[in-house]
Amino acid sequence: MGWDTYNAYGLDYNETIIATNAENLVNLGFRDLGYNVVIFDDAMTERNRSENGSLIENAAKFPSGLATIVDTLHRDGLYFGVYSSAGRFTCGGYPGSLGYETIDAEWWSSLGADYLKYDNCYNEGLSGTPKLSQDRYAAMSNALNSTSRQITYSLCNWGDDKPWEWASTISNSARMSGDIADTFDMPTSSCPCGPDEYYCQLPGYGCSVVNILGKASHITSKNQPGYWNDLDMLEVGNGGMDYEENKLHFSMWAAIKSPLIMGNKLDKLSPEDYAILLNPAVLAISQDPSGSAIQRRLVRQVDDTDEYGFGEVQVWSGSLNNSDQVVAFLNVANASRTMTFSLVDVFGGIRTTENAQKSWDLFDVWGNETVMANDVASQVLNGTLAVGNATG
Ligand code: GLA
Repeated sequence: MGWDTYNAYGLDYNETIIATNAENLVNLGFRDLGYNVVIFDDAMTERNRSENGSLIENAAKFPSGLATIVDTLHRDGLYFGVYSSAGRFTCGGYPGSLGYETIDAEWWSSLGADYLKYDNCYNEGLSGTPKLSQDRYAAMSNALNSTSRQITYSLCNWGDDKPWEWASTISNSARMSGDIADTFDMPTSSCPCGPDEYYCQLPGYGCSVVNILGKASHITSKNQPGYWNDLDMLEVGNGGMDYEENKLHFSMWAAIKSPLIMGNKLDKLSPEDYAILLNPAVLAISQDPSGSAIQRRLVRQVDDTDEYGFGEVQVWSGSLNNSDQVVAFLNVANASRTMTFSLVDVFGGIRTTENAQKSWDLFDVWGNETVMANDVASQVLNGTLAVGNATG
């Protein structure tokens, strides 16, 4: 769990932006709930390497120097995340790490890095089979393991060559789709594969929440503690989705056990966004020790399609460590509706008849007793209420 520069700032960030968001991670209570890594995404370095081949920190962006900035993060109980690509360049055209794995891993380690997001741009054609991709990403895995630091290794190869089938032995997570956009279900030509497609060779960018969820539904069983399907950053707080859509986005990312990396501006959150991101019941589901993702059990077509042609409801469910069950009902259509399903539907057919025969107590993770009240969230955000009182 953490925060990343890219979705809200693109390549245009600097030490002031990092400091503002890092302070808000601490002061608004995010760090203490687990959002504790600050990822400097693409464009942290200069555009050229030094004469000895080393990456160079970007002096214009970080006039205080990365060493000082990282010390402050660590002193504040935050982790330092870096970014590169398993290619000749990063996606933004900065130096990539293909062929420079050892020297770059050493550089990040010397800076105190705790996390690496490792992209797939300009990969020199070294993809197209699982082996080509795995070898390319394993080179960095080995380099990181040879440093003196523990560095979480997060692949960002967009599902290329199906990392869920080979990356668990060399990494801690892997992106499984093209880049997310801040939209619930709007299709875009830049995200060419639909939500029903199990595998997408050119996954692109601009993918909606519904699109990514559909793709994820095929591979949720591939999660395990230590290796997570990464559904991409959270868009909560960026303004493109309404309250119900943001709740669905956040709940499903948590219940599928995606890393929860915010990609927003933490000094611009609305009270509703803030209450969503801090929902303690949803975070508890995300962090459940079994690490097991909920599975999609059922998709049923309904007759009112929305403006993009979606007219369906979905049921997802799965177990927590203590045998409680997480159940999600998704309405991807035009109108509010009452949904009626049998417990057999909810638990996934005859495989789980035992669960369908029990009676269950219900707890609504979005009920009033869980969600921080709007006036309390407002007071925390405008600094008139200490965060301990709000979340305690
Ligand atoms: C790719 C990644 C994004 C982001 C950008 C940075 O598109 O998938 O998450 O890191 O590169 O340029």
